[in-house]
Amino acid sequence: MNIVNFKEIKPKIMYYGTPTLLLTTLNEDGSTNISPMSSSWALGDCIVLGIGLGGKAIENLKRHKECVINLPSPNLWRNVERISSFTGIREIPDYKKEIGFTFKKDKYQAAELTPLKSKTVLPTRIKECPIQIEAVVKDIRIPEYNSLFAIVETQVLHFHAAENIVQNENYINPVEWSPLIYNFRHYFGLGREIGKTFRSET
Ligand SMILES: Cc1cc2nc3c(=O)[nH]c(=O)nc-3n(C[C@H](O)[C@H](O)[C@H](O)COP(=O)(O)O)c2cc1C
Repeated sequence: MNIVNFKEIKPKIMYYGTPTLLLTTLNEDGSTNISPMSSSWALGDCIVLGIGLGGKAIENLKRHKECVINLPSPNLWRNVERISSFTGIREIPDYKKEIGFTFKKDKYQAAELTPLKSKTVLPTRIKECPIQIEAVVKDIRIPEYNSLFAIVETQVLHFHAAENIVQNENYINPVEWSPLIYNFRHYFGLGREIGKTFRSET
């Protein structure tokens, strides 16, 4: 890209392209909820998630401090998109209703994905995701300056990877593995756009 000049803009969203993850958490009745997410970072065995306060994921994590961070590959973008307008919250906050969210209890069925029993945590893993990370919640912080989201710190317990993306026993082969990138509400894989969300404005 040949950069000639800059322009100051005021984007409504700042999703500059991070891997999509499907966070599974435990509902009060023992079933599993799936929440598409993209705000995460990892250092050592800690994975930090940015989770909106009006959703089911944070409600579940406050009550039951276990989750699975499932990483879909680009070919699963339609499955992610199938549940992108759903929330596991029955009493949907007005701001979510206004942008088109509706309640869905069974996200597995809606996404056409398959639950797999986890090794030690109660929320299930997603079979179709090549990487599934079982984790325990160590801390949930709500920033004083903002009441929109929580910063959730998790510690990895078990890292499951599809055999075909594993090399030398404990390494992921980056040639075989590619994340599904969420780039300003458009899905990308391997540097090429493959779809966009129902909320995309561009
Ligand atoms: C690809 C994608 C990425 C998203 N990233 C996040 C995120 O990082 N944090 C968040 O709170 N919501 C994110 N959302 C929105 C949530 O998926 C949405 O709030 C949903 O209602 C969560 O489901 P739940 O209420 O059942 O937990 C994202 C949605 C999509 C489609």
